[in-house]
Amino acid sequence: MIQTNNRGLFLTFEGIDGSGKSTQCRMLADHLRAQGREVVLTREPGGSAGAEEIRRLVLEGDPARWSAETEILLFTAARRDHLERTIQPALEAGKVVVCDRFADSTRMYQGLSRGDLRATVDQLHRLMIQREPDLTVLIDMDPETGLSRAKGRQGREERFEDFGLQLQEKMRAGFLSLAEEFPERFRVIDGAQDLAAVAADVAAIVEAALDANA
Ligand code: TYD
Repeated sequence: MIQTNNRGLFLTFEGIDGSGKSTQCRMLADHLRAQGREVVLTREPGGSAGAEEIRRLVLEGDPARWSAETEILLFTAARRDHLERTIQPALEAGKVVVCDRFADSTRMYQGLSRGDLRATVDQLHRLMIQREPDLTVLIDMDPETGLSRAKGRQGREERFEDFGLQLQEKMRAGFLSLAEEFPERFRVIDGAQDLAAVAADVAAIVEAALDANA
């Protein structure tokens, strides 16, 4: 069930590229702040000064720059820094942490996209991270819609969004089976609904978790 070893609550959002997670993270943070809660809105890779530097290393430049294994190390290094500097201190201070992607993204993107490296991802996670979110919201979405949204954005971070439809299908299925693997912390939301309806579903789920954690 919900982990209560910290006073705060650790919430993560997951989903394929273009699923609308980032918007929903912001909307949830605004909603919780309006209720008077202290919220830290953060993201991965990134979320601390060091981890943002690693983000640039891993998401910009030649997509063939890193091997799959090196990429796992970089994402995990970024996560460790983010956890030490941002997430743990916030949870210890009783805040709600809303994080756009976390270890489940590594389980999917590095664990599935270039061969079966899930066991390596899990080993490194056990060694260096350990911590799982209290609650993970999976915004489930049809990859064709997700991809057209992701491609519509400009920017240099096209590393993963270039993988195409087939990979996004694989990621979607992977995320759904991850939700079955960790049913106690995963909640799946239909991302095809309009923004406000998704946000209402998210708010209901998170409020239930906050009540249970009170
Ligand atoms: P993000 O900024 O969340 O992009 P988007 O808004 O499109 O979801 O994440 C950037 C990319 O990094 C995304 O394509 C997924 C990838 N990623 C990994 O491959 N492994 C990881 O562990 C994380 C956290 C992200």
